[in-house]
Parts: sequence; structure tokens; C-alpha cells
Amino acid sequence: MTYFGELGDRVVGAPSILAADFAHLAQEVQRAERGGAGLVHFDVMDNHFVPNLTVGPAVAASLAAAVDLPIDAHLQVTNPDNLIPSFIEAGVVGISVQPEVVTHLHRTLGMIRAGGCEAGVALNPTSPPELIGWALPYIDYINVMSVNPGFGGQDFIPEMIEKVRRIKQMTNVPVEVDGGITVDTAPLMVEAGAQVLIAGSAVFKGDPATEMRRIIEAGRRVRK
Ligand code: DX5
Ligand code: ZN
Repeated sequence: MTYFGELGDRVVGAPSILAADFAHLAQEVQRAERGGAGLVHFDVMDNHFVPNLTVGPAVAASLAAAVDLPIDAHLQVTNPDNLIPSFIEAGVVGISVQPEVVTHLHRTLGMIRAGGCEAGVALNPTSPPELIGWALPYIDYINVMSVNPGFGGQDFIPEMIEKVRRIKQMTNVPVEVDGGITVDTAPLMVEAGAQVLIAGSAVFKGDPATEMRRIIEAGRRVRK
């Protein structure tokens, strides 16, 4: 099962569950799916790497069984290796880790791939693209964080547009953008080369189908 490997040059929308109503998670994801979402962005936080605390593999497994969309787990945790087997077991399609807190990145990425998932890295806003230069052959997608990880609803960091452009000069691997993505920022990121538009508060602030569709269309418009 590959998602990023078959993305081609498509631009897709990914609702971030962080801003959803956790008591009705499956329905929230289905609402965004009706707006054309292609992937679920599942934010995992541990109160160590980031101050916030969210959900883990048990919730991912329940969600995977309840929805049709593939799930991409973004591990914002200090010891991702401990959780990777459970997320693989949960049935997610991709797992991304934060290289800033992974000691043996090559091994961690290998672990994800060996479990049949696609391996991603999520870069903090001030982490340079060079941090993952030697890991590129082992990476299936890159998440360029356009806010500091930890919370939804933060302001978009505009320097991340140039960072996406820089990364696309280094590699053809699909780029996700995560944080402050709206109808206004999505086109700027797609123009720079981003393909997966992750959005939490901008999707769930209103009707998720309508808002997701607006973001995807705003992103796709610059590709024509
Ligand atoms: C932040 C998370 C994001 C977050 C984005 O740590 O990785 O996925 O949900 O939220 P918005 O779209 O509200 O900036
Ligand atoms: Zn995220």
C-alpha cells in the first residue's frame, strides 16, 4: 500500500484531526472527505517533544477501521521508535518522524519501511533541509512544518515558502505543508512545489467539506 509513491503530480488536501471534534472523529474525517480530502493527517503528541498531548495507535486503529481515507501519522514525540510498530499494526499508510529528536534516523526510517509503511520526515521551521540530505534515499515524503509543532491555529511562517522551493531543488519526493494552511497560504506553498495541503483549523472552523474543497481548489488553481 503506497500513497506518496503514487501521488504523481497531484495536489491533495489532508484534514488534520487536531482541530476536529475528537468525540466524533470518524464523522469529522468523512465530512472532510466529502470536500475532496485524499488523506487524513493524524497528529501524535507526547508532552515531551511538544507541550501538547493527543492520541496514539489505539485511536489510529479505530479510525482506520471506520474511514476509507488512508492515514498519515505525524509523530511529534521524542521516542518514535517505541510507537512505530503499533502504528504499523494500526494500519496507517505513512509515518513521519521529527529528525531533530531521532538519534538514528536511517534505522528509524528503515523500521517504518520494513513494516510496509511509507517513511516521512517532518522538519521544524528552523531545521535546515540539509539535515535530511543523507537520508533522502530512505524517505518517501517530507513534511515542511510552517508553524512550530504542538498546536493548531498558529500563524503561518512565510519563510517556509522558500524552504519548500529549496527542498524541491534537492529531491522529487512529495512535500507536505503543515501549519497555518488556508485558502491564502495554500497557493503560495503549491507554487513553491508542495503537494499535500494539511489543514486543521481552516478545515474544521466551518463546514469541513466546504472548507476542505476551498483549500484544495485554491492550491490546484496555481498548477493550471
Ligand atoms: C501542529 C500540527 C498540525 C496542526 C496544524 O503541530 O502538526 O498538523 O494540526 O493546524 P493548523 O492547520 O490549525 O495550523
Ligand atoms: Zn501535523
